[in-house]
Amino acid sequence: MAKKRVIKRSWAEPFKIKVVEPIKMTTREHREKAMKRAGYNTFLLRSEDVYIDLLTDSGTNAMSDNQWAGMMIGDEAYAGSKNFYYLWDNVKKYYGMPYFVPTHQGRAAEHIISKILITKGDYIPGNMYFTTTKLHQELAGGTFVDVIIDEAHQPENEHPFKGNIDLQKLEDLIKKVGAKKIPYVSMAGPVNMAGGQPFSMENLKEVSKLCKKYKIELWFDATRACENAYFIKIREKGYEKKTIAQILKEMVSYFDGMWVSAKKDLMVNIGGFMAMRSKKVFQAARNMVVIYEGLHTYGGLAGRDMEAMARGIEEMVDFDNIKARVGQVEYCGKELDKYGVPMVKPFGGHAIFLDAKKFLRHIKQDDFPAQALVAEIYIDSGVRSMERGIVSAGRDLKTGKNHHPKLELVRLTFPRRVYTQAHIDVTVESIASVYQERKNIKGLRITYEPKYLRFFQGRFERL
Ligand code: F0G
Repeated sequence: MAKKRVIKRSWAEPFKIKVVEPIKMTTREHREKAMKRAGYNTFLLRSEDVYIDLLTDSGTNAMSDNQWAGMMIGDEAYAGSKNFYYLWDNVKKYYGMPYFVPTHQGRAAEHIISKILITKGDYIPGNMYFTTTKLHQELAGGTFVDVIIDEAHQPENEHPFKGNIDLQKLEDLIKKVGAKKIPYVSMAGPVNMAGGQPFSMENLKEVSKLCKKYKIELWFDATRACENAYFIKIREKGYEKKTIAQILKEMVSYFDGMWVSAKKDLMVNIGGFMAMRSKKVFQAARNMVVIYEGLHTYGGLAGRDMEAMARGIEEMVDFDNIKARVGQVEYCGKELDKYGVPMVKPFGGHAIFLDAKKFLRHIKQDDFPAQALVAEIYIDSGVRSMERGIVSAGRDLKTGKNHHPKLELVRLTFPRRVYTQAHIDVTVESIASVYQERKNIKGLRITYEPKYLRFFQGRFERL
């Protein structure tokens, strides 16, 4: 009798494709010109000139047929839209936060929360910075202090929870500046700039305990909270049998409030919100939202957008959905590993982060290695990625000096439910080719630098 072969059993996405959007293939010559015209900044490319768009997972998701069906029942009343109440109900049900204020996207919520909670001269500790979060904290008069564990700054360190807060660093800061100068601790999960790295429930519980001891509030950037919940489920003891919904709710239970860019977890194209336990903060937020966004029952969104968000919340906690999402990122990482491409490990929840310092050892950080690599990958294949290094870190608002982050990264970010495994293969092969030819890549110099968040609009030229 013939011996039975061992057959590998793969998993696949829990959906099929119903609508497609054609994408354009371009020549290398076309892309050389387009990149030059865009000042070597992928944010300034026309999307038409992009083949595979891994710039961001923000608002670039494919909505489900159920979400699109919801768009047709948008209640576009100026006040009291029924979609708003459905969304609020789902925020209560899935996140467990009683009060809710919608905004048009995440940074609008960051702006309002920062203005309400921060007084000039305050300090805001956080598990590594995020660009818009930190800027709003600074514009409100605060100083951001990074209290993430050291491992987060080490690309090759395989710590399973590199998003954890270092309790010693946090307590040292409290003792140094005094608890009264710290309006809240800002905790994100997974940590975008660290490479999509999660925090553990154990760490969150300890941070919460420390905050309670000093009567400091704890606020959550819950933009990709479901990815954090997924990592807790597969990596942390005691959570294997819990559902994503249960873990999400437990996580949020330790926080006083949160803000969310709905353009990620909720799988919509636009939206954001803040939610909180304090009625006082809620009243301040819903008052301020009418100045900057719109009435508190729409916050800059159409009724149909809120309906898509509400339905997105129900879909985002599905285990098979989140497993396929993180699984695609992991597949990309494993394939790149076969070519020895240097990356942040473990692989993140929303993106693969190339280690540009190691990739381009011959380019010093002041010559923007990650920015140069992003341009080179685009020119090679039309794959669009994003710089997450010295350009993104910007300058110290007081001294005007460049920050020099330890991590100099290129982010390949995966929109949810958009690309196939073949797209990933094309991406991997392009990066492997660029890696082979890396010695020929030159650094860049800035030709135009805007005052805030320079990575969005800054322009460069080749050295
Ligand atoms: N917090 C995190 C962790 C984010 O990743 C983002 C956006 C925001 C807040 C701001 O939300 O864009 O809706 O205003 N991140 C996008 C990205 C831009 O590409 O990582 P927003």
